[in-house]
Amino acid sequence: MNHTFSKNGLKIPSIGIGTWDIQGSSCINIVQEALEIGYRHIDCASMYENEKEVGKGMSNSRVDREEIFITTKINTTGWTPSKGNGPYLKNQEITRSFDKSLLDLDSDYVDLLLIHWPRFETNLGDMLEILYKLKDEKKVNEVGVANFNSHLLKECFDLGFKDIFCNQIEYHPFLSQTKLLEVMQDFEILPVAYCPICRGDVARHDVLIRLSEKYLKTPAQIALRWIYQQKIISIPKTANSYRLQENIDIYDFEIEDKDMLEIYGLERNQRLVPNLEINELKYPFD
Ligand SMILES: NC(=O)c1ccc[n+]([C@@H]2O[C@H](COP(=O)([O-])OP(=O)(O)OC[C@H]3O[C@@H](n4cnc5c(N)ncnc54)[C@H](OP(=O)(O)O)[C@@H]3O)[C@@H](O)[C@H]2O)c1
Repeated sequence: MNHTFSKNGLKIPSIGIGTWDIQGSSCINIVQEALEIGYRHIDCASMYENEKEVGKGMSNSRVDREEIFITTKINTTGWTPSKGNGPYLKNQEITRSFDKSLLDLDSDYVDLLLIHWPRFETNLGDMLEILYKLKDEKKVNEVGVANFNSHLLKECFDLGFKDIFCNQIEYHPFLSQTKLLEVMQDFEILPVAYCPICRGDVARHDVLIRLSEKYLKTPAQIALRWIYQQKIISIPKTANSYRLQENIDIYDFEIEDKDMLEIYGLERNQRLVPNLEINELKYPFD
């Protein structure tokens, strides 16, 4: 049901459920429900403070662990919604923080571990070394990054880390990431789109509404299919059962080339994550 992309022999379902801002029993229930209706990819993060609930949702679903692709992210900045701005994690705390993620997720490993944001106390080389050590220890199947621009990706390569699995970035019809996506393609880094339905904005756009009528789909499905046809993975978040089903029902139609182009034309440089509260640095995004 959920089509996959693959790299290094590891298959990643092209749609995952995002879990940012879902807490408590709604998180447990939506993760369980997602798995029961066919999702096999869950995106979470230490920063979201809900890995325990994600773990509970997984175990309630009774879907085998091996069938599920779990991504989590190291919060190197120490920032959490409940505690506000914290100090950067020191090297040894990074491994400890990840061990807590595993404990909370009730799993011996994750499929993919990302650096959540390119800010850390230590330098990039040390940081990647710590993550790749976790991979050697088989606690992590693949290592990736999030919110990295093309310069930082190049730096990873220059440091000898040429096997970055993915870069998770904001991507939707209202934000072109052309330059960054080209660099990622050159480096064979899989793109993962966060905010793929622009936090609901796609449902209110005239062109996407018109195309939804043409294809007998919803505007969110048009946006997710448009991303899928570019061979980009997406992780829409919903805490609503109806939209959960909607967001994964995108495999039974194809958007024509001329309509793909029209959607590319909706770019308006709209960023939902322009500047995390923790990010005082002036950071070029591409
Ligand atoms: N790496 C990073 O720095 C980073 C940053 C941001 C996000 N992420 C990840 O990416 C995931 C997705 O991003 P996001 O949550 O920011 O934005 P999103 O998935 O684009 O949008 C989620 C919002 O859209 C609504 N929605 C969901 N399905 C819909 C549909 N079919 N039609 C209309 N509205 C719909 C949801 O409300 P309901 O819940 O009421 O349906 C929610 O308010 C996050 O949950 C997180 O896992 C990562």
